[in-house]
Amino acid sequence: MTAIYSFIAGPLMWAVFAVFVVGCIWRVASLALIARKKDVAFYEYWNNRYAARSIAHWIVPFRSQSMRQNPATTTASFVFHITAIVTPLFLSAHVLLFQEAFGFSWPVLPNAIADAFTMLAIVSLVFLVGRRIFVREVRYLTTWSDFALLALVALPFVTGFWAYHLLPGAGWATILHILSGQALLVAIPFTRLSHMLLFFFMRGYIGSEFGGVRKAQDW
Ligand code: HEM
Ligand code: HEM
Repeated sequence: MTAIYSFIAGPLMWAVFAVFVVGCIWRVASLALIARKKDVAFYEYWNNRYAARSIAHWIVPFRSQSMRQNPATTTASFVFHITAIVTPLFLSAHVLLFQEAFGFSWPVLPNAIADAFTMLAIVSLVFLVGRRIFVREVRYLTTWSDFALLALVALPFVTGFWAYHLLPGAGWATILHILSGQALLVAIPFTRLSHMLLFFFMRGYIGSEFGGVRKAQDW
């Protein structure tokens, strides 16, 4: 087990970081170049003020009509997103590993809060899975890839919790945790998870077109 750990926490981790960083840059840069050739409106209509106005509206819970129409889903989605972004970035175990690798660190969350956030992330993911199974209109639009994506996202939270609480098999859970975290990082630039990079361009463009051209609000 020690040899496996050394490999995945060593050379594999560096490879994953490289693919993640280069992949993210490639994803944004290649889309920007394609838009230059094929989607001139994107650059013509882009307006920083309307883009920022739309982004500011959509990142705040319940500010758009569709969010107000689905309060339970909006709550689950925001709880999930806040905990899914904050927990891995400010978890003491992660910051410590980052410091060992790169030599710098930042403030961390107390472990009890990180643990509570982990549980909230898992509970909200269970809700989002349930919504895709039980709400008819959503089930109609759901394919296996939606469940695969939710599973990919859930795995690092479940295994991280398992390892942290030293539940039976915690050694293997740690290995599974690192591998699933790495799979998630690598998937970000190449799957729909790239929405965390592209959301701002998509929302910004829609906001620019609505604000600058249609003179309307997009929320
Ligand atoms: C990719 C490399 C990663 C490494 C090397 C890593 C490493 C670790 C370590 C060492 C722990 C502590 C476990 C223990 O105390 O035994 C941990 C916990 C945790 N990690 Fe990661 N992790 C990685 C990726 C991720 C990702 C991508 C996420 C989420 C998106 C994540 C979420 C968590 C959570 C939620 C916990 C448990 C917190 C708790 O319940 O207190 N990790 N991780
Ligand atoms: C800058 C950060 C992010 C932004 C702006 C963002 C935005 C969004 C939006 C607008 C949606 C669609 C509507 C919704 O279901 O709420 C969504 C869905 C989703 N996001 Fe994010 N996201 C971000 C980061 C993340 C991260 C870090 C993860 C996972 C680690 C993630 C995983 C997901 C998943 C799995 C869904 C689909 C949920 C479902 O199937 O119901 N997002 N995100």
